[in-house]
Amino acid sequence: MSHEDFPTNEPAVVTCGLPYANGDLHIGHLRTYVGGDIYSRALKRLGQETAFVSGSDMHGTPVAVNAEQEGVTPEEFALRHHEAYEETFPKFDVEFDNYGHTHDETNVETTQEIVRTLESEGYVYEKEIPVAYDPDADQWLPDRFVEGACPYCGEHARGDECDEGCGRHLEPGEIEDPVSTITGNPAEYHEREHKFFAVSDLQEYLSGFLDRLEGTSNAQNQPREWVEGELQDWCITRDMDWGVDHPDDEDLVLYVWVDAPIEYISSTKQYTDRVGRDAFDWEQVWREDGDIVHIIGRDIIQHHTVFWPAMLHAAGYTEPRAVMASGFITLEGKGFSTSRNRAVWADEYLEEGFRPDLLRYYLATNGGFQQDVDFSWARFRERVNNELVGTVGNFAYRSLLFAAREFGGTPDADLSPQVRERIEEAIAEFEAGVNDYSVRDVGESAVRLAQFGNEYIQRNEPWKLDDDDPEKAQVIRDCVQIATAVAVLFEPVVPETAARLWADLDADGDVHAVEVDAALDAPGDEFDEPDELFEKIPEERVEELNEKLEARVAEATADDEAETEHEDDEAAESDDAAADLEPIADERIGFEDFQDLDIRVGEILAAEGVDGADKLAKLTVDIGVEERQIVAGIKQLHDLDSLPGTRIVVVANLEKAELFGVESNGMLLAAGEQADLLTTHEDAEPGTKIK
Ligand code: MF3
Ligand code: ZN
Repeated sequence: MSHEDFPTNEPAVVTCGLPYANGDLHIGHLRTYVGGDIYSRALKRLGQETAFVSGSDMHGTPVAVNAEQEGVTPEEFALRHHEAYEETFPKFDVEFDNYGHTHDETNVETTQEIVRTLESEGYVYEKEIPVAYDPDADQWLPDRFVEGACPYCGEHARGDECDEGCGRHLEPGEIEDPVSTITGNPAEYHEREHKFFAVSDLQEYLSGFLDRLEGTSNAQNQPREWVEGELQDWCITRDMDWGVDHPDDEDLVLYVWVDAPIEYISSTKQYTDRVGRDAFDWEQVWREDGDIVHIIGRDIIQHHTVFWPAMLHAAGYTEPRAVMASGFITLEGKGFSTSRNRAVWADEYLEEGFRPDLLRYYLATNGGFQQDVDFSWARFRERVNNELVGTVGNFAYRSLLFAAREFGGTPDADLSPQVRERIEEAIAEFEAGVNDYSVRDVGESAVRLAQFGNEYIQRNEPWKLDDDDPEKAQVIRDCVQIATAVAVLFEPVVPETAARLWADLDADGDVHAVEVDAALDAPGDEFDEPDELFEKIPEERVEELNEKLEARVAEATADDEAETEHEDDEAAESDDAAADLEPIADERIGFEDFQDLDIRVGEILAAEGVDGADKLAKLTVDIGVEERQIVAGIKQLHDLDSLPGTRIVVVANLEKAELFGVESNGMLLAAGEQADLLTTHEDAEPGTKIK
């Protein structure tokens, strides 16, 4: 692609999708914000001039609907949430250079100016369209004020989005069998004049734009079909009071998706206003040649790769360089459900006493950025204990303790060429991670380096060397340098821990401001014995956290059911058996996501228990192409001796995992608490693909 690698000579802006000022943040949201923060810090470590901006999305019908239910004004409601977000992000060390909101003066002005430009450039026209109307409430029903059936896939959908079905953006008037969410009555369609942005005029431009666009592959590929198919124009006005007023027509506000992304620009402007044009020039970025990287959830790819670049281009602004779209997070294998309180809330995580770095690390490295990942407290503990405590913490502690005790700090020796080279390799991995838009690779460069450090100590056994043996000083000198490099390269992911390590090393400067070269700068001559960087999470904590979560879900579900029963006794009764079952996950996956799974028929060849683990069994499974070792939690649920010969179903391309020190390479499928093993019923051979 045509873009030059980071760091470039132009300023960059990294943005995160604006959260609707509409509820509490949970760790599903945090994935995007932590990802954005890591990416922006990583760019800064590379010496890229970068502003990291976002803001709260104050407008739109979700805010209006909820405010109405609470009996407060939308402004009061949204500001309250905005202020809460503003406080929460820094608690996770998500440090925006500017965090504004879409209702502030800067954004209202910028939005109106851009809309005027779109109009004067001839990209806006007026058209009569059917708009849903509630005769009892005597109100127009924009977006979420109306529900009905998606005209494309037939699923239940909200006014502007088919969020349970095909995921399409829906235009006003498109939804079928419209029902008002205010009164629950059928809505009527009435003709109204609205303004449209002629996205379809920009088809050729957009197609070229997608060729240039960098980022995650989901964001590069998914929009192809929209752009190459019949492009729809977007209705950019709504019949509402809450929003940014249309610059000329007081009866209308602009559609929330007009003013929301413009906040990316406004927020950058505010940053320039604060630090001065010499420090950061918003105009160079947005009107000339800046590198704009948008970090978003995968549900809003279309807005960022079609609608938004069309608007930027038509109004004479810089197009985005990259879009990174993150996957969703499930919780213990099931979708988050805020209504069922089935979520890990941001505040709750902190109240449990966990440091932000642990979650940041988990979110950054547990799966690729665009993959959907599952959160479980058990896996959280595993990752913390194995990698943060076992690899990084252990390496840093051993090295620094040794150095402090035996040498009072950094031994007087030159860094060995071999270790210098390994550190340079880690820097290169870090840099490649940034240029590949892979948050995970950025995070793993440091962990792999620490892993190398552990092996290096182990191999050289400095504790066995005599005090006057120069090799002893050499090995420790090397390790101290590796620790310095780990601090620099791990800073984007675990800023707080990196700062501790930096202080322990008595290194110069601020680890939040240095560039990657500092990985090779000499650490402090003298330093004291260090503290441990991370603490192990005991297994009981996981049980406790899981119990809390289950109790909470049960309570919320009971409330929910009590309500439903009340409303509809009959339905509740006939549904009784189903009441114990998990609700179907809210999120639909695309067929392509399903196709990503490589599921095979397998045959168990051997099964034995894993030592020290109550529940785990180690299976040797023939999956046709090869034999696999798979660890599964079935020790107490099946007679292991009778398993060999059993045909099972295996997810063959799952990432490898380590459980109790035993590698698991694949996952078997089983139903329910009793781990009822899935099998085949005819004669499909091991290795047969399941689809
Ligand atoms: N508030 C929107 C959402 O949560 C995202 C807006 S992102 C922006 O889906 F591009 F509009 F800024
Ligand atoms: Zn649909």
